[in-house]
Amino acid sequence: MFQNRLLKVYKHKSKQASRQNISCYRVYDHDLPEFPFCIELYDDKVYLAEYLRRHGMSDEEHEQWLEECIEVICGILPVDDANVYIKQRKRKSNRLDQYEKTDTKAEYFSVAEQGLQFLVNLTDYLDTGLFLDHRITRQMVRNECKDKRVLNLFAYTGSFSVYAAAGEAASVTTVDLSKTYLTWAEQNLELNNLKDDTKHFFVHADVKQYLKTLPPDSFDLVIIDPPTFSNSKRMKDFLDIQRDHVELLNDLIGATTPGGTIYFSTNFTRFILDKEAIKASDIKDITRATTPFDFEGKLKRWCYKISV
Ligand SMILES: C[S@@+](CC[C@H](N)C(=O)[O-])C[C@H]1O[C@@H](n2cnc3c(N)ncnc32)[C@H](O)[C@@H]1O
Repeated sequence: MFQNRLLKVYKHKSKQASRQNISCYRVYDHDLPEFPFCIELYDDKVYLAEYLRRHGMSDEEHEQWLEECIEVICGILPVDDANVYIKQRKRKSNRLDQYEKTDTKAEYFSVAEQGLQFLVNLTDYLDTGLFLDHRITRQMVRNECKDKRVLNLFAYTGSFSVYAAAGEAASVTTVDLSKTYLTWAEQNLELNNLKDDTKHFFVHADVKQYLKTLPPDSFDLVIIDPPTFSNSKRMKDFLDIQRDHVELLNDLIGATTPGGTIYFSTNFTRFILDKEAIKASDIKDITRATTPFDFEGKLKRWCYKISV
């Protein structure tokens, strides 16, 4: 059953990927409930995340079952089993553990996306370093940012910052609460020979507090992709995107030049945008327009283009 389904989706997706010249994409996501995997290709490597659930197998049986699944995967995808990286994803039991390290192998690879390079790590963190579902949004930013002052909030490994630098933004400010991810973002810029200390700034801060410090007309183009919840010792208050999005976006609008653009994305499935309370001149839902072929019908995030 797994073999048939994987073969079918891989045939379909690999064709689309090669047509678009894409080598990192999601192949399979929980397509069959009995095989609860997320399978992504990163060039010649496979990231295989298994969603933990009550499966009723003993450890040995589960190990055996997983081995058989990996054999199926290697029979279909162009990888050998040494290049399959397995991650067992827990359902988030604790809101605080989202960004903790899960291993310490420190194996970083560089992968290509739309002519740019990104460092990924398929073992040590919950996520890989490159969120594949924002491929189109990143390209939109590259196309629109020439000579603009770009702000990337909750920047993670700075993939939007790399696209903005490649699109010849006047400046790129990358903000994150994690020093590890800010360093990773700097390395991503270096990897693309784009790093320029006179134009690229890295800010280690809580976005909520940072936005309160910005004067009007600080930026022209902003990307804000917050987590659903966030809490840390460095923060005055926790972040709850449903509760806080109006305040965050209105503070941001105050700091963005009139006529500027804000791209706002959230992974909170049940998110409801309080449109009336946001002081924008226009808000467009661009979720569909920013959904890549490999996330068709599967995407669990929202994306808005906010005009200031
Ligand atoms: C969902 S990821 C953002 C994804 C990113 N925009 C991308 O496309 O690659 C969340 C990021 O927010 C950061 N973060 C969480 N809470 C924060 C806060 N209060 N202020 C600044 N950054 C925060 C985390 O360290 C993490 O890097």
